[in-house]
Order: sequence, then C-alpha cells, then structure tokens
Amino acid sequence: METIIVANWKMNPQSLPKAKELFNSVRNWIKKNSNILQSVRIIICPPFVYLESISKLLKTKNFRLKVELGAQNLFWEEKGAFTGEISPKMLKNLGVKYVIVGHSERRKILGESDEMINKKLKAAIKAKIKPILCIGETFEERKRGKTFKVLKNQLTKSLTHLTTQPLNYLILAYEPIWAIGTGNPCKPEDAKEVLLFLRKFTQPLFRSITQTLILYGGSVNSKIAKDYIKIGFDGLLVGGASLKKTEFVEIIKDIAKD
Ligand code: 13P
Repeated sequence: METIIVANWKMNPQSLPKAKELFNSVRNWIKKNSNILQSVRIIICPPFVYLESISKLLKTKNFRLKVELGAQNLFWEEKGAFTGEISPKMLKNLGVKYVIVGHSERRKILGESDEMINKKLKAAIKAKIKPILCIGETFEERKRGKTFKVLKNQLTKSLTHLTTQPLNYLILAYEPIWAIGTGNPCKPEDAKEVLLFLRKFTQPLFRSITQTLILYGGSVNSKIAKDYIKIGFDGLLVGGASLKKTEFVEIIKDIAKD
C-alpha cells in the first residue's frame, strides 16, 4: 500500500520565485532518491496563483515520480458570476488531481458550512478531482468527550447523497483543530482511537471500495510522522513542516524507509 504525504502550503510562500525554489528543492531530492520512494505518493498543494507554474515544473522531462498537484479549495459551480471563485474545470485544466475540501481554517475564518462542503465534494468528484475532506474537533469538544459525535456529524452532513456513488475518489483527513499550527500534535494513541472510529463509521458507507484512505494532520513533524503510519493511517497532511525543505524531506525519508 502507498503512503500519501500531502503538503498544504496554505497562504505561503510569499512570491513565485520562493514557491518554485521550495518545490524544486523537494523535487531535486526526490529525483535523487527515487529508488526509496516506491511506496510513497507526494501531493503538493500550493496557493492557486502558483498552480500553473508548479504544474509546468511537474511536467518537465525525466520527472515521472509520484508527485502530484493538489489545490487548497474549489468552488462548486462550473462557471459564471462568482467573483473570486475557481471552478473545478479550471483546476483540472492546470493538471490538478486532488483538492483539499473543508479545511478547518476555511470553516472557521471563511464560514464554510458542511452544506457548502457537500457541494464542493460533489463538484470535485464530478470533475474527477480527488477530494481530501478535512474533519476535526475543537479542543473544547474533545474535552467534553464530543470528538466522535462532531466527526460523525461533519461526515454525515458533508457526504449527503454521496455515499451511494463509487467513492474511491474520497480521501479523509483527520485534523484535530487544536493540533493545527500549535506544535502540539494529537498523540498517536489518541489519534488511533479516532482512526478506528472513522474506519468503522466509513466502512458501511462506501460499499464499492475496500477501505477509505484516512490521513492524519496537525503539527506533524519528522520526529513523529512515522508513528501515525505505524498505527494505521494511510498518510499525512502536513502544513508548517512542508514549508521547510529539510524537515519535509526528513518526513518523506522516514516514511519511505521500509
Ligand atoms: P500544521 O502541520 O502546520 O499544523 O498544519 C496542518 C494542516 O492544517 C494541514 O492541512
């Protein structure tokens, strides 16, 4: 089984040359170490404005490694009067294969609801872009023992009318909100409880696939990255650490080791 490592650059870096530099440094390392990367798939999700340039770099000769392009968001309509939005087809045309949907930063800061997320998931699937659906609880909700209830609710609402479809397109990312950008990752043993819950919950939903791919995200660093894979996660969604070349490469190296 492949392990998926997603780099969510969020609203970074601040210029195109810096974005290219970051991408190229990771790419060059991958090129040199392609032999150990057989079982790893890397998905880079830069801000919209860098997608085209990174897409071109991905297409350059001799770069047929398992590195793919993802977007951080999309809109559910195909075209029209939706100022500031980006359609699935626009992304598809740039070679985008994956899209992050329902990130907690978008839910919280931009008011994205589960209903909007549901529309985005449908649009992504229709365009054959694989959505990476983020779910997660706040610290308060965890403290009150509501984690499973919150996740169940997010999943049920965001997946409305979707579970009858062949959903081998969907990837789930468990990102506890309190762990994102705090340097305080969810302990692997606690994350494992959630993973087991999610496996149990999703299994009967998608009869057409054997197992939904589930990633962990939230303050992942090279010291703990492997622990989440050992306990059964299918991959990682990496924020801050994906912006530091050496740290990101360390994560890839550690995961690819065996
Ligand atoms: P950090 O790795 O910076 O905590 O971010 C996680 C995240 O939000 C990835 O989508």
